[in-house]
Amino acid sequence: MRIAEFGLERYFARWEFAVRHLLCASDVEAWRLDDLLALADDETARLWNDLRLGYTESTGHPLLRAEIATLYDSIGTEDVLVFAGAEEAIFCLSNVLLGPGDHAVVTWPGYQSLYEVGRAAGADLTLHELREADGWGLDPDRLIGSLRDETRLVVVNAPHNPTGMMPTHAEWRRLTDELAERGIHLLADEVYRFLEFDAADRLTAGADAIDRGVSLGVMSKSFALAGLRIGWLASRDRDLLARCAAFKDYTTICSSAPAEILALIGLRARDRVLARSRRIVEANLPLLDRFFADHADRWTWVRPRGGSIGFPRLLGDETADAFVARLVEAEGVLLLPGSVIGHDGNHVRIGFGREDLPTALAGLEQFMTEA
Ligand SMILES: Cc1ncc(COP(=O)(O)O)c(C=O)c1O
Repeated sequence: MRIAEFGLERYFARWEFAVRHLLCASDVEAWRLDDLLALADDETARLWNDLRLGYTESTGHPLLRAEIATLYDSIGTEDVLVFAGAEEAIFCLSNVLLGPGDHAVVTWPGYQSLYEVGRAAGADLTLHELREADGWGLDPDRLIGSLRDETRLVVVNAPHNPTGMMPTHAEWRRLTDELAERGIHLLADEVYRFLEFDAADRLTAGADAIDRGVSLGVMSKSFALAGLRIGWLASRDRDLLARCAAFKDYTTICSSAPAEILALIGLRARDRVLARSRRIVEANLPLLDRFFADHADRWTWVRPRGGSIGFPRLLGDETADAFVARLVEAEGVLLLPGSVIGHDGNHVRIGFGREDLPTALAGLEQFMTEA
């Protein structure tokens, strides 16, 4: 398989562990192991202490699958397949559903593997472009207009990386009804689900919305446990999950035994885990609002509606690439220029899930004052 380089991951490989402040991370500040273990109930504490480090069940630990299923309304244990992060799930599903002669529609800009893997598998891809002028909103009619007879998959990421976009309930229903009618699979990338700033905006999960809906979840973002590398697909389409499980035999076979138990602990304690994530995000977002209001002559700011990242645009003559390069040199603060994800609008990705955001933002402020 030939596949284009993953621009964002190459960028992080260069910078993530070399800078003082990562102001473009998409995840929430990770839990300490001790703090997470303190949330274990009797059963999970026993599972952790008695853990044997052998191979695990390839579909995922049954208790973990059962716990994941409770995140949905219509999903049972058998409708969940566990992967090594969301990334492996995207890889397997795209390969299973897409090949030469097939077509898929994917929201864009976005997380590259959501379209690159399908493209590498030989499918024809339409990128459904979200536009700043529309508040980065999804346009269901335009998206539906791009469907073809050979469309096998529509991928929507919401809350969206990198804009924080979320469709309204009406837009979501319009799209999902149409896909149901046409029998097209939906991959709902919901890795930022539960970080909606207004809980009333939380969409019906893809897996609950339609028979061929597939929800993509992960412990990395809202659950602030990226290092576990535990993700999942949930769907009532068991035949599709079985094909993904068979494909996974060629990737990881099964998940890491310690990670599965730690994910189970985190999910069983999800009220506390998610409350912590929301606390961090809700403390940081007003600081960004103030920063962008103070610098409205230099930046646009479409306030995200969920998740932990936004996509402001740098105004003026300087390119976002040059600005970001000078900033990291001067202050050790890393932003991500849109060019890294193939977007040419002079935007940068800014993350607000980390606890050092006030310090990182002070570095950016200082840099702008001096510039
Ligand atoms: C929208 C989206 N989907 C999937 C992923 C992959 O998640 P993970 O790296 O935890 O596998 C990411 C990670 O940034 C993402 O932003």
